[in-house]
Amino acid sequence: MERVDKILASRTKFSRKDAKKLIGQGRVRLNEKLVSSPDEKIDLETDVLKLDGKALLLQKQLYLMMNKPAGVLSAARDPKQPTVLDLLPEQYRRSGLFPAGRLDKDTEGFVLITDDGEFAHRILSPKRHVPKTYYARINGPMTEQMIKAFADGVVLEDGSLCKPAQLSLLEDAAEPLCQVILTQGMYHQVKRMFVACDRRVVWLKRTAIGTLPLDPALKPGEVRKISDKEIRMLLDKI
Ligand code: URA
Repeated sequence: MERVDKILASRTKFSRKDAKKLIGQGRVRLNEKLVSSPDEKIDLETDVLKLDGKALLLQKQLYLMMNKPAGVLSAARDPKQPTVLDLLPEQYRRSGLFPAGRLDKDTEGFVLITDDGEFAHRILSPKRHVPKTYYARINGPMTEQMIKAFADGVVLEDGSLCKPAQLSLLEDAAEPLCQVILTQGMYHQVKRMFVACDRRVVWLKRTAIGTLPLDPALKPGEVRKISDKEIRMLLDKI
């Protein structure tokens, strides 16, 4: 919880002294109630603070979780094709946002969108080994040899050696559903790892970044804020 005058000063052009004056002039509302004292406390996660009737963006940096649909680019802007930023609802649009890491156009699932470059670097840097979890449907049986190959480090067709990865079976079917956990992000990596095992990925979805799972309530194309607590939990493990 933070003091209203402090937050007001840090999210507007006004000084702390001015913020106190604004409160005195009755121009500040907290959850629609007039703020009567500068030391009222505010919860940055849930409260709505308004100055002259306009809501202030309370979180300093924005962290969004999107369930990317297939057919959309995980790039900031593209002259011809729709991108994840084009899907953002009005309330989340602000300058400086970008997707932290890429999914292929036909891959679905968790894309983290932020304006915090430092944070993006931390979750993407190969040195940090932040695991990314994928669900993949493949075009033939998943075998014990494949589990071992993934655990040992798959050699891709171009000769590059992947770091050890976890492979497990979620659903046995003609096109089995597998879970893959990677700690690196080479181009088309999941697809290429399966190709090296004589399989083709027919459907791919990212379901978690580090300890943070994709919210199952998000339908394809939907987005929600990642809370400060979730961000702290994610960074805690890095
Ligand atoms: N691996 C892939 O092959 N594609 C993705 O989009 C992500 C990981």
